Amino acid sequence: MKKAPHRLYLTEEQIPTAWYNLRSDMKEKPEPMLNPATGQPVSEEDLYPVFCKELAHQEMDNDTPYIEIPAEVLEMYKNYRPSPLCRAYNLEKALDTPAKIYYKFEGNNTSGSHKLNSAIPQAYYAKKQGLKGVTTETGAGQWGTALAEACCYFGLPLEVYMVKASYNQKPFRKAIMQTFGASVVASPSDTTNAGRALLAENPDNPGSLGCAISEAVERAVTGDNVKYVLGSVLNQVLLHQSIVGLESAVAMELLDEYPDVVIGCAGGGSNLGGLIAPFAKDKLQGRANPRLVAIEPASCPSLTRGRYAYDFCDTGKITPMAKMYTLGCTFTPSPIHAGGLRYHGMAPILSKLYHDGYMEARSVAQTHVFDAATMFAKYESILPAPESAHAIWGALEEAKRCREEGRSETILFGLTGTGFFDMTAYENYQNGKMNDYIPTDEELAVSMDRLPKIPGVQ
Ligand SMILES: Cc1ncc(COP(=O)(O)O)c(C=O)c1O
Repeated sequence: MKKAPHRLYLTEEQIPTAWYNLRSDMKEKPEPMLNPATGQPVSEEDLYPVFCKELAHQEMDNDTPYIEIPAEVLEMYKNYRPSPLCRAYNLEKALDTPAKIYYKFEGNNTSGSHKLNSAIPQAYYAKKQGLKGVTTETGAGQWGTALAEACCYFGLPLEVYMVKASYNQKPFRKAIMQTFGASVVASPSDTTNAGRALLAENPDNPGSLGCAISEAVERAVTGDNVKYVLGSVLNQVLLHQSIVGLESAVAMELLDEYPDVVIGCAGGGSNLGGLIAPFAKDKLQGRANPRLVAIEPASCPSLTRGRYAYDFCDTGKITPMAKMYTLGCTFTPSPIHAGGLRYHGMAPILSKLYHDGYMEARSVAQTHVFDAATMFAKYESILPAPESAHAIWGALEEAKRCREEGRSETILFGLTGTGFFDMTAYENYQNGKMNDYIPTDEELAVSMDRLPKIPGVQ
């Protein structure tokens, strides 16, 4: 066994040149998206009004195992990839655990997160199709920043609907997006029917990812040659994020290592879906049996307390319906600081893996998340994003279990980003002003009881 360096960087030549499509190895595929008007599965063509053609194709492709990464995309990937696989020696020592803790750090770019991995191909395909621009939503702001960077690189106009809670908490995020030339609107806004309807009900609505999606989709379908792009949840996004897992697998192989447990935070599921991709492949093919663990906020517990059902991907109910673990698209999570994890549903691919017993899930309250974030920052010299700190919490729990059981397991987790724009949250935590909000069963039932009724389906 080789001694792992603190930070292992692959060479540019070792960056994988194809994404891996996890669906190709799933014996039972995720359920198809349904057209809300007909209750029938959507076709690739049905998606053309919303998505550009290549991305609609990737969305529907359940069979092709590897999809070549276009040369132009690889070129921009090289601005910040390969990302390092880090060994948390200091943390291991502090925890006095026999476990080996590795993490894949995706925060080494201006967007500060893994989101750029999908922003680049989405902007590239949109430009290649000759679109006049794209619209999107952003929660914590990382996705919007990433897409602003990618659109700027390919010369494509961008309009971002930013969840109002984050817009107010992180004004500098907006300034970065504007630096890259994007226009940014706080959601819910009065620029769309979806936004106006929500504001009429409650002028102080803090917004949610589902609501921002409705607004961005509405702008795309009513705009001229403008399409919508999404930073998570969709099959295509998990496909692009497989670069994270593929690089991790190459690096671990160089170290003669293999993870016993792979952990990621889960908002819409894109980083987790990408990180676990090659390991889930081994599991599906029966070659290895790593545990795959999602960590979600206790305030927005779609996997651990949601229902596996067809639901709209957005609050405004204008997207197709996806079968996923969901709290109901009308659920508005409390404005916790991990804005990127405030989504009512979970990627259909992960939902299916979880439903079929290939994946586990745990939820955690935000004060515990910040305990973990602070400990990690002290020992690893990286200030994590609150979203990423959910995965850190999961890794610490596993490392403590290893200590109690005297087991030297190999833990791999995804450190999706940095938290430099989350200092209000860190400050609240330090001043004892941070609250945990965990919805009651009755509160969750309100939105889950409003799940769509589809004759013959649910
Ligand atoms: C740093 C960071 N990590 C994780 C997430 C969660 O998204 P996903 O579940 O799609 O990876 C976000 C979303 O905004 C994020 O900004």
